[in-house]
Order: sequence, then C-alpha cells, then structure tokens
Amino acid sequence: MMVPPEELFEGAKLFGKHCAICHGAWGAGDGPVAPDLVVAPRDFRRGVFKFQSTFYGSKPLISDVERTIQHGLAGTTMPPFLTLGSQAIARLARHVLWLARRGEVERELVLAAQAGEPLDGRLLAEIEETLQSAWEEASEQAVALASPHPEPTADSIARGRVAFISRGCAKCHGPDGRGQTEENLRGGLRDYWGKSVRAADLTSGRLKGGHRPEDVYRRIMGGINGTPMPSFRATLNSEPRTVWDLVDFVLQLPTIGQRP
Ligand code: HEC
Ligand code: HEC
Repeated sequence: MMVPPEELFEGAKLFGKHCAICHGAWGAGDGPVAPDLVVAPRDFRRGVFKFQSTFYGSKPLISDVERTIQHGLAGTTMPPFLTLGSQAIARLARHVLWLARRGEVERELVLAAQAGEPLDGRLLAEIEETLQSAWEEASEQAVALASPHPEPTADSIARGRVAFISRGCAKCHGPDGRGQTEENLRGGLRDYWGKSVRAADLTSGRLKGGHRPEDVYRRIMGGINGTPMPSFRATLNSEPRTVWDLVDFVLQLPTIGQRP
C-alpha cells in the first residue's frame, strides 16, 4: 500500500473535514460527537471492518471501504457521501486504511513491549511484513457467487423461511427476522470492540452492507466480520440455492414489516 505523500495529505484533509467529528482525527472513534451516538463510530486502529465482500476474519477490499463511504451505513449515523466524487472517496478510503495500518503497527509494538521483546528494526519489519500480506491476501478471500441469482418466487421465499429457522439465523434474528430475541433485547451480543450490537431487525428495510441480492449473499457466506454473525461458508458452501432462498426471504421481509 505505497501511497504518495501528497495523496495522503489530500486524504487527511478530507478526513479532517468530513469524518473526524465522529471518527476522531486519528481514527480512534473518539471524535467530539462520538459520546452522543447510539452506535459508536468505528475505531479504525484495529484494522477490522464489518461490511466487506471478503470472508470473516480477512481484511476488506478497498472497494468495500469506498462503498461504505459513498453509501453510508443505513440505520446508523454514518452518512452517505454521495456527492463527494470518486477521487475524493478513493483518497478517503486510502486514508482510512492508512489509519488502520498505523493503529495495527502501534498495537503490535505495545504488545511486544509488554512481552519484553526488544523493539528494534527487525521487529518492526516483521510486523510490517505480516500486516502487508494480510492486506494483500484480501483479494483471495473475496466471497464469490457460486451461481447467478435465480428469479425469486413464492417457493424460494417459503424455502428461505424454513432455512432461516433450520440453519440457525432465527437464533439471533428471531423466527420473524425482527431481532426480538431475549439475548438481543438484553443487549447481550458484543462486537470486536466490546460494544453492544444487536442482530439486525431485518424487517426495517435498512441494510448497512447494501440491498442488492449479491450484497446479502456475501453477508451470509462471508459473515459480518468483527460481529457475532458468523460466516456460513462451512455449512452452505455446497448449497448456493439455499443461500439464494435465504436472500429472497430476507429481502422480502421489509414488505411484511410494513403490514399492520
Ligand atoms: C455522524 C457520524 C459519522 C461521520 C461524520 C462519519 N462516520 Fe463513519 N461511521 C459512523 C458510525 C456510527 C459507524 C459504525 C456503524 C456500525 O458499526 O454499524 C461508522 C463506520 C465507518 C466505517 C466502517 C465500516 C465497516 O465496514 O466496518 C468506515 C470505513 C467509515 N465509517 C468511514 C467514514 C469516513 C471515511 C467518513 C468521512 C468521509 C465517515 N465515516 C464519517 C459514523 C460517522
Ligand atoms: C450469532 C448471531 C447471528 C446469527 C446466527 C446470524 N446473524 Fe445475522 N446478524 C447478527 C448481528 C449481530 C448483526 C448486526 C451486525 C452489525 O450491524 O454490526 C446481523 C446482521 C444481519 C444482516 C444485516 C446486514 C446489513 O447489511 O446490515 C443480515 C441480512 C443478516 N444478519 C442475515 C442473517 C442470516 C440470513 C442468517 C442465517 C444464515 C444470520 N444472519 C445469522 C447476528 C447473527
């Protein structure tokens, strides 16, 4: 991720103008308004992102971060920046990744210091190398669609409803997808940052990671990194049809939610 310094400077300026109020100047999620927000602005320093097209546990693609900036995260205060233009968004995304990388290096150094390791050039080079390969390997971790999306039908939705329960989605989201489970209401689920996170109310019509069928497919197969929602790769890999059924079921839930 070699970025020319003047590019980084432009990204930093844009970040200061549009993002620091929530995410903090160094991306620690500690901007001046952060304490007032129900959903905490992300702390980028851990290098962990939720809404990515790659599998749980891997790094996002830069296009995922660009998508988040452009479209925002529906249902949270993370706003869409639709009018910024693609060059500004690309610079912002690179700045976010730079903040993440910087935070990760810092953290590794602190951990090494705590473990009593000598903080020398060799250690720094090792840390840089490990991080570099994690970011470079992200593209190999992209969730591919195993088949094209078949036309949704009443049957596919009905099969999706059955799978939603039998495959364990209902455990967190409730059988009707509203997220009214005991654990959810108690605020018992936590994300990677230790913040309380609710299994989404899927009838709300707001999906943070996008509303296209392929977005929901990737959410299911990839999981939602840094949250309790796991990847279903192990169980659904050989059943793309079931994944599309689940997608069809999820995507028609908001129309049910609107009914009295
Ligand atoms: C009004 C507050 C606010 C502003 C301004 C804001 N964000 Fe956010 N941002 C959030 C919140 C809240 C979240 C976490 C949402 C969640 O966890 O569901 C977030 C999350 C993110 C994420 C993480 C996405 C993921 O997949 O985990 C990225 C990247 C991001 N913001 C980038 C930006 C950038 C770049 C800007 C400026 C162009 C910006 N944000 C401006 C509130 C804000
Ligand atoms: C262990 C609990 C858990 C299980 C099991 C689970 N989810 Fe989730 N799900 C979550 C959580 C938590 C979130 C919210 C993450 C966030 O916004 O930070 C979520 C969010 C979602 C979203 C919203 C994504 C977005 O773009 O906003 C969809 C769609 C979804 N889950 C579908 C499913 C489906 C389908 C299944 C079963 C195949 C499933 N989930 C199983 C916990 C779970």
